[in-house]
Amino acid sequence: MSDRVRTTLGGLELSNAVMTASGCGGTGRELAQFFDLTRLGAFVTTSVMPQARAGRPTPRVTETPSGLLTAMGLPGPGIETFLEHDLPWLIEQDVRTIVSVAGNSVQEYGDLARRLRNVPGVAAIEVNIACPNAEDRGRMFAWHPSAAASVVRAVRDHARPGVPVFAKLAPDVTDIVTIALACVDAGADGLTLINTMEAMAIDTDTLRPALTGVSGGLSGPAVRPLAVRCVYQVHAALPRTPIIGVGGIATGLDALEFVLAGASAVAVGTALFHDPGAVPRVQRELDEALAARRIDRLADAVGLAHKPAGYVPPQVRPQEPEKERT
Ligand SMILES: Cc1cc2nc3c(=O)[nH]c(=O)nc-3n(C[C@H](O)[C@H](O)[C@H](O)COP(=O)(O)O)c2cc1C
Repeated sequence: MSDRVRTTLGGLELSNAVMTASGCGGTGRELAQFFDLTRLGAFVTTSVMPQARAGRPTPRVTETPSGLLTAMGLPGPGIETFLEHDLPWLIEQDVRTIVSVAGNSVQEYGDLARRLRNVPGVAAIEVNIACPNAEDRGRMFAWHPSAAASVVRAVRDHARPGVPVFAKLAPDVTDIVTIALACVDAGADGLTLINTMEAMAIDTDTLRPALTGVSGGLSGPAVRPLAVRCVYQVHAALPRTPIIGVGGIATGLDALEFVLAGASAVAVGTALFHDPGAVPRVQRELDEALAARRIDRLADAVGLAHKPAGYVPPQVRPQEPEKERT
């Protein structure tokens, strides 16, 4: 892997900018049979909750045009088993690991951050705020600036100083910039954009919702333009805040689109279900796409789409003058 795709997310240095998206790479063991996990920019864990959860009954996954609709209900082993079995395995493989946390109250998020505080091998914490707040009639933390901020503050207060905290926002809000600002004001070092979008499908044979959860989260290529729009708007408002772009990325050019919108790193989610080797492939394709555009460092491409048409950043190598034909 060339140095072209190295990146920095605040204080977090990554050898390359392409990582797995939370919930889509299993525990890491499932992906390890397809490629060497040390090639990942980072492995983002499935959101860890305080207790073990079985998740929702099936059916909890259905395909939609260019997308996947899921209502998993955050199944997982809970923080203690995660710390005993899953995280040590990732550390043993020398995988850069970002731990995603999820809770149903501000206190649960704070407790999870405290539990991770003295655990070695946590490169960063990603706060999944697309969770129902048990203290507010089950309304998502991600929908309200003050609720989102409370969760981020609780995690920041209890996390080890120096470990970056990323807030992962949901796209289905009226103004994503307001939520982003609230999270950064509350201490988020960076933002992950986007989580899935609430959506629904109805089975025309059973005449009932296709998923037991009734609605679910839409992901895959169908959400990519929505995700790119969110990254673009948030980068315009917060140009110095590192962004991890997520949503429908399946190729290097998809990843480049997010970088141009303002992301300093990207994560691949749904694409892993049909191409488990997608991350190293997207890394290679992104590297090639930057080289083809004479951009030597990914950092020089971050947010370029915000510049006026025709702008060439000083760092971009000028095009070789065409040799005169004789
Ligand atoms: C099956 C599945 C499970 C997911 N689990 C989580 C999760 O545990 N925590 C989280 O923050 N996001 C979770 N996500 C959301 C993804 O990380 C990602 O933000 C979203 O799917 C958009 O990216 P994609 O289109 O590349 O999948 C999940 C998505 C899917 C499809």
